Amino acid sequence: MFSPEIYIERRKVLKKSVKSGAIIFPANNIPAMNYPSNNYPFRQDSSFLYYFGIDEPGLMGLIDVDLDQDVLFGDNREIDDVVWMGPADTIQNTAKKVGVEFTFPLSELETRIINYKHAGKEIHYLPPYRCEISGQLSDLLKIDIKEINENASLTLIKSVISQRVIKSQEEIEEIEKALDISHEMYTTAMKMAKPGLTEREIFGKLSGISLARGNGISFPMILSVHGETLHNHHHDNTLEDGQLLLIDSGAESPLHYASDITRTIPVKGKFTKKQKEIYKIVLDAQLAAIKMMKPGAMFKDCHLKAAEVIGLGLKKLGLMQGNIKEAVKKGAHALFFPHGLGHHIGLDVHDMEGLGEDYVGYDSKIKRSNQFGLAYLRMAKALQPGYVITVEPGIYFIPQLIEEWKNSKKFKNYINYDNVEKYIDFGGIRIEDDVLVTEKGHKVLGKPIPKTIAEIEKACN
Ligand code: GLY
Ligand code: MN
Ligand code: MN
Repeated sequence: MFSPEIYIERRKVLKKSVKSGAIIFPANNIPAMNYPSNNYPFRQDSSFLYYFGIDEPGLMGLIDVDLDQDVLFGDNREIDDVVWMGPADTIQNTAKKVGVEFTFPLSELETRIINYKHAGKEIHYLPPYRCEISGQLSDLLKIDIKEINENASLTLIKSVISQRVIKSQEEIEEIEKALDISHEMYTTAMKMAKPGLTEREIFGKLSGISLARGNGISFPMILSVHGETLHNHHHDNTLEDGQLLLIDSGAESPLHYASDITRTIPVKGKFTKKQKEIYKIVLDAQLAAIKMMKPGAMFKDCHLKAAEVIGLGLKKLGLMQGNIKEAVKKGAHALFFPHGLGHHIGLDVHDMEGLGEDYVGYDSKIKRSNQFGLAYLRMAKALQPGYVITVEPGIYFIPQLIEEWKNSKKFKNYINYDNVEKYIDFGGIRIEDDVLVTEKGHKVLGKPIPKTIAEIEKACN
């Protein structure tokens, strides 16, 4: 964990922002997989980690804003727990490590909440995303479980987002530790990828690296020769000469900060001419979008810039036609680039999405579009120093989507379907990096991972 002062300061800022009442942060529990004592790996709640730093289940953080008091509710391990799970520090010592002075057994939490309610104190909590936590909050606060999410505190949501969204130096260092793991994962994959190998063999190796060096993967890995399926979690294919392998993966640093990187590599170590042409367009789109990133720039404009570079590149290849600015405005490019340019990254790979995507990526100045493609843009608002955002354009040939658009003659003035059909089994290419917005511009975080055609071919061979 970070030093206690960091957590004390984070809670101080939060108290100032929330102004009154009490805030509760439930720690996550160990989720059951197929029977109660066979569990999924434990992952702490990110907001609990941010304000209370303790990577253990069975705790409740409480901040009494009115009394300026930070409290940890939890129980010391009983001898039975020690026998099965080993000894652990006392709750009092653990609390001290994150600058919390007051500790109480969990059994006293309910009385505290009843007293707050009698006193008419507002109790703020974040919207839960696990049913167990919804149940716990429902029991504790006497709110119908179906109404738990709608009763979450908007004041708290907005306060937490405004704080967590700006990354401090020590958080950026953690993200870079995760990126260092990604560097090893990608350079390993580039060396491994060969015809005859299965996706699963590479998937296993990369997962192993993320576990050996950090806290495992930061989201289910996408590793497929069918990169045109945006979130392809199947790893059942055998690699063949001439195919492209798209790997979109991330690692968690020791303190659970995420990386999120995508590279697309040729299976036999050499891109074909056709692959090079498409790859170069995606790379140009990514670099053009990154170049625009600075405080005040709208990330939606970076997205639209990437879309325009993609449109112009595809026009040169004869896949798109007509006025590309107009085509992008109407959404015709989304046949090839149907997702958003990127998202915030931090303790969550899609940072704070559980608190409400639009609160994180949009504000009063910019509303989410409902146009196909643009509607998936998770982050659109003006950039600020300290934001860490992924930049991940792509070009995909999705046979079913092409077929559907072609049959309905959709955007036929902008898309040359006869030429597009020559790419029907091309697959997909995405390139993704994690970019910090600085006072003057931006910085691509982490040790550079081979990205140009020449760098990737060199790393593969
Ligand atoms: N989880 C895929 C991505 O956002 O890159
Ligand atoms: Mn990704
Ligand atoms: Mn991403």
